[in-house]
Amino acid sequence: ANKLGSKKERTLALIKPDVVTKIGDILELIYSSNLIVTKAKMTKSQAADFYTEHQGKPFFNNLVQFMSSGPVVAMELMGDEAMSIWRGLLGTSDPAVARREAPQSVRAQFGTDGIKNVGHGSDSPAAAARETEFFFPSTIGHGPSNTAAFTDC
Ligand code: TYD
Ligand code: MG
Repeated sequence: ANKLGSKKERTLALIKPDVVTKIGDILELIYSSNLIVTKAKMTKSQAADFYTEHQGKPFFNNLVQFMSSGPVVAMELMGDEAMSIWRGLLGTSDPAVARREAPQSVRAQFGTDGIKNVGHGSDSPAAAARETEFFFPSTIGHGPSNTAAFTDC
């Protein structure tokens, strides 16, 4: 934390295939929460690698299939408490619950069900670092093999 008590963070924010057309509304929410977009790209997702932490869970195959069904928008967001602010903007994972608990959240407004739920947000500093690197590989110290996980549209 700096002397004002704020904590500059970065997070990986993913806009899932169900709502890429809503990106304008979502960007407005991001900027009105004092976060800034420092990196962004639209990519075609091959999600099995990204979601390895959920491998083996009952929803894994459906999740990967859905995430690979169309383009996603990957963004690095920066700002005070970026991780929790972005996850707060998203709301609870299940849009039906979000509609009860946080009607203003983007999952409440734009989500369809537990899988088609608008977005992803990193849940820890380690995840933020790993997930940002996943979409925006640093060029220093890596060969060309590091760029293939998600291919550009
Ligand atoms: P999770 O990391 O638990 O939620 P969040 O996206 O809020 O961090 O789950 C990752 C994704 O997996 C979630 O966005 C949608 C999907 N999922 C399901 O389809 N069913 C489930 O029961 C859970 C827990 C997740
Ligand atoms: Mg998660």
